[in-house]
Amino acid sequence: MEKSRATATSQPQAVLFDAYGTLFDVYSVGLVAEQLFPGQGQALSLLWRDKQIEYTRLVTTSNHGAHYQPFWQLTQAGLRYACKRLQLKLTPEIELQLMNQYRHLSAFPENRDVLQALKARGIATGILSNGDPEMLGIAVRSAGLEGLLDHVISVDAVRKYKTHPEAYALGEQATGLRAAQIVFVSSNSWDALAATWYGFQTLWVNRYALPFEELGTQPTRTGHTLNDVLAFFPAE
Ligand code: LAC
Repeated sequence: MEKSRATATSQPQAVLFDAYGTLFDVYSVGLVAEQLFPGQGQALSLLWRDKQIEYTRLVTTSNHGAHYQPFWQLTQAGLRYACKRLQLKLTPEIELQLMNQYRHLSAFPENRDVLQALKARGIATGILSNGDPEMLGIAVRSAGLEGLLDHVISVDAVRKYKTHPEAYALGEQATGLRAAQIVFVSSNSWDALAATWYGFQTLWVNRYALPFEELGTQPTRTGHTLNDVLAFFPAE
């Protein structure tokens, strides 16, 4: 197994979490989608998510970033595409309902205890996300996670989405630490992979027993819930 260049050398001093899919359950949107479009909720939420991420890559890699739009707008565009593709009628009311649901995602249940355990060990905590600052602010407040996060970092500051290195560099700038001193946690395998390449210590939270990316690099650790981040910090 290939190790990241960061592994084993530094005791990490901060943990940065991806937001959507990692701290907040994106697929919970599927429940509302299923009520609105019976039999199509899961397909809609999966395609919506895939399109949203595809659009982040499209605007970051094309034409020197000239077509950047905040994550909220890309999320809305992804929803419109997914509905057209699945031939679902997206009325303004339904769009509002689904987008509002996206604002107030459920948090995974173990979040609070893990953040508290990290705080108790003196570890700095934060979010490093594609989400724009307003979306992240609302998500953090509605999940009741304020006070447990030292940093809420949005890539909007550089107008480049992960996996662009300038997006990951924001984590170093905010914490004043080198990537090798930071654990980056993501449930998205592509994000965990690129963060490993960037130089972070990484935890891939594999909630759904999925395969990891087949590009020759593994995350520093793989777990099943956020609790597994505590393995980076053995009790004294
Ligand atoms: C984020 C997306 C990638 O929060 O989940 O950055």
